[in-house]
Amino acid sequence: MPEFSKGLEGVVAAETEMSFIDGQHGVLEYVGIAIGDLARSSTFEETVYLLWNKKLPTQAELDAFTKGLRDNYDPPAGVLELVKNMPKDAQPMHVLRTLVSSLALFDPNPNANDVPAAREKALKILAATPAIVAAFDRHRRGEKFVPADKSLGFSENFMYMLNGEKPTAAMARAFDICMITHADHGLNNSTFTARVVISTLSDLYSAMTAAIGSLRGPLHGGANEGVMVMLNELESVDEAEAYVTNKLKNKDKIMGFGHRVYKSKDPRASELQTLARQLAEDTGNMDLYEKSHAIEEVMEREVASKGIYPNVDFYSATTYHCIGLKLDLFTPMFALSRLAGWSGHVIEQLEDNRLYRPTTNYVGPHKVAYTPIEKR
Ligand code: ACO
Repeated sequence: MPEFSKGLEGVVAAETEMSFIDGQHGVLEYVGIAIGDLARSSTFEETVYLLWNKKLPTQAELDAFTKGLRDNYDPPAGVLELVKNMPKDAQPMHVLRTLVSSLALFDPNPNANDVPAAREKALKILAATPAIVAAFDRHRRGEKFVPADKSLGFSENFMYMLNGEKPTAAMARAFDICMITHADHGLNNSTFTARVVISTLSDLYSAMTAAIGSLRGPLHGGANEGVMVMLNELESVDEAEAYVTNKLKNKDKIMGFGHRVYKSKDPRASELQTLARQLAEDTGNMDLYEKSHAIEEVMEREVASKGIYPNVDFYSATTYHCIGLKLDLFTPMFALSRLAGWSGHVIEQLEDNRLYRPTTNYVGPHKVAYTPIEKR
């Protein structure tokens, strides 16, 4: 029998040219470029082009790609009708999962998954999903939908559709950095989910829908909301020490720490820490940053020896809060960005597909006599 690896730890289950992670040394590269360089110098549109084409675009290529996205900012009218029928108290991740799935209903050829068709669908899904999140948030507040502004970039347009006013350049840039840092990350749980689904030659909508379902779990993308809940539980920075040590004593997990692959600080956490600090200062939220920093210091002292450090979700919580996002939109924000990674992986899978079908070790009994029901 092949060796059993609980949680598939250490199992290589795919090849990719998109992101490289060295968990021991805290390295993340997209197509060979350090995540920090992309966060500082790139845009989300350019980063997606890089991930999907395995090269940085020329200006003309970037312009054409950006136009393709902007032309598809508006979801089908039928999807916006569905938004109006969502219960106002629904959780945004459940709405997102439901409505990304519904995009298939308005695609005349939803099952086409030859590579050119999959690339076209990926572009349309990525471009239209921000409007779904923004429209649902406005629907639950009883506000009218704000149509997309095609003159705006991906991040700026999302914030405009959500709030009804254009963000400052600094806020739009901060949001774009979040989009860049969350776009892809090897064979994480949701990306694996997407690859597993498409490996049956199902369709892109099913793969994205399943990946959203995976992402929302608190052990994965849902952790950013858990971090914010924790920060809100602390009345002041002085409580961080007792809070963390008590949790660790009770064997509770501290959200935003630990990672299956990183055994050093997640480089995305370092980028987002710098951003969070700046935004916290600019928006009068230094208490949140200071609480986060105090938690990190206690964790460093207590559990760094076990390879537990902040992951991407830790400082993204403060960042999202300072950008003005509601708590339950944190994980949808992650999804808006990771759609780029999921669809890039789906395309890689389609380019060289083999059905995922691992096996189990059967650990139950054998040769058991069948007992008629009246004798049990
Ligand atoms: N806080 C405290 N202890 C932790 C934490 C944490 N956040 N994470 C791991 N540990 C401890 C475990 O208690 C365990 O200790 P033990 O050996 O004494 O029993 C040990 O580290 C190994 O933990 P596992 O859960 O087995 O590690 P695994 O690789 O399966 O888990 C995971 C990785 C799920 C991310 C885990 O670290 C965790 O639950 N973190 C909190 C949730 C979180 O932040 N998730 C986001 C991850 S990043 C992302 O998905 C975008």
